[in-house]
Amino acid sequence: MKASLRDRFQAMWTGLATIGASFSSSSGQPGGYYRFAWTAADLEMRRWFREEAEAIGLEVEQDRNGNLWAWWGPTRDIRPDSGGALVTGSHLDSVPGGGAFDGPLGIVSALLAIGEVKQRSVTPRRPVAVVDFADEEGARFGVACVGSRLLTGTLDPERARLLRDADGVTLETAMREAGADPAALGKDEERLASIGAFVELHIEQGRNLGPLGAPLGVATGIWPHGRWRCLFDGEANHAGTTWLADRHDPVLVFASVALAARRLAAELGGHATVGKVRVEPNATNAIAGSVTAWLDVRAPDEATVTHLVEALIAAAKPTGAEHGVGTSITEESFTPAVTFDGRLRDRVADVLGWAPELATAAGHDAGILAERVPAAMIFVRNPSGASHTPAESAELDDCLVGVRGLEAVLEELACGPPLGGAALSSADQGCRRGS
Ligand code: GLV
Ligand code: MN
Ligand code: MN
Repeated sequence: MKASLRDRFQAMWTGLATIGASFSSSSGQPGGYYRFAWTAADLEMRRWFREEAEAIGLEVEQDRNGNLWAWWGPTRDIRPDSGGALVTGSHLDSVPGGGAFDGPLGIVSALLAIGEVKQRSVTPRRPVAVVDFADEEGARFGVACVGSRLLTGTLDPERARLLRDADGVTLETAMREAGADPAALGKDEERLASIGAFVELHIEQGRNLGPLGAPLGVATGIWPHGRWRCLFDGEANHAGTTWLADRHDPVLVFASVALAARRLAAELGGHATVGKVRVEPNATNAIAGSVTAWLDVRAPDEATVTHLVEALIAAAKPTGAEHGVGTSITEESFTPAVTFDGRLRDRVADVLGWAPELATAAGHDAGILAERVPAAMIFVRNPSGASHTPAESAELDDCLVGVRGLEAVLEELACGPPLGGAALSSADQGCRRGS
């Protein structure tokens, strides 16, 4: 007897549970996931993806940018009038100490949903694929959505190859050591042109669906957001013997910037966070020589993001001068505002039935792809709203509603009118469906 969808979901989830998992040394409790691009954990996640996709009869390939694609039907079969391939998926990498759902929920749901459609002997009008985008979080090399940015050409391959992790290892070296070819990185126009639509299912990051009583939501767009590198250059010295008047302590300037980020975000209506910091030499009994901190800024519109960062730079200057600390804040990456394709969004919403629309302040590969192909996102309710922490979670029942919802959306998009949106002609039979 075939296992229930619930059992299959749980089996897949269990297959991922230990990969890249850490335990808190103090409590022995799960300490979150460390699944960084091109590490052993990432390679294990990729192996898991390959095996699960092949088990349902999909053909897996790795593209020139390290993204994995599991195809149902070859792309060469795309009919000129079909509007291209239908792609779903998400990512399997994590932030440091990340939760289990951000990324993997979209991949597990996609594999299960395609498996369900496939076993009903549906013959889709267009190829369907699940994609596992490489390095969505940018946890190791600092730039988010590396795989989708390279695919669309919004990240220069030479810049990508030279990105360095905290140990100084370049992306180029990391890829080569992981058996991938960094020389091949670059825009993939042919692949992009073959995609008719992309639908990403993702755990909600925030708690908007809960109060609305909705297990699923549909994304309207993504706030513009970016990352800035802040360098505070002071002078290392003895913590006990250096007179206060003689100090050039970069930690003081860093602290003022972290506080100003919060104050300006509240004043201007955005989010500004310093979540990563490196102090050199990082000794209790030494004044630091330098501090590098990473600033994440997001807001409903680009003007507010720009205003916030400029105000922060202006606030940092006098504090730096007061302490004799060199201060620079430079952009590392920026993602403009995204509005998801209205027609695709409406089709997804129609299939799902009642699903509230919401904007998000989190970045996604769907947002990067949206520049070039119609893209949509489905969110699964997250009762606490916690994300990028081990506390991130969704109820199993909601996850299953998500799989069924995605299944219905995929079937409609695989069988319905061309993804460009034209009506199905009477001569067009749509999908052939078996019994
Ligand atoms: C990814 O989750 C991001 O919003 O940074
Ligand atoms: Mn994330
Ligand atoms: Mn994600």
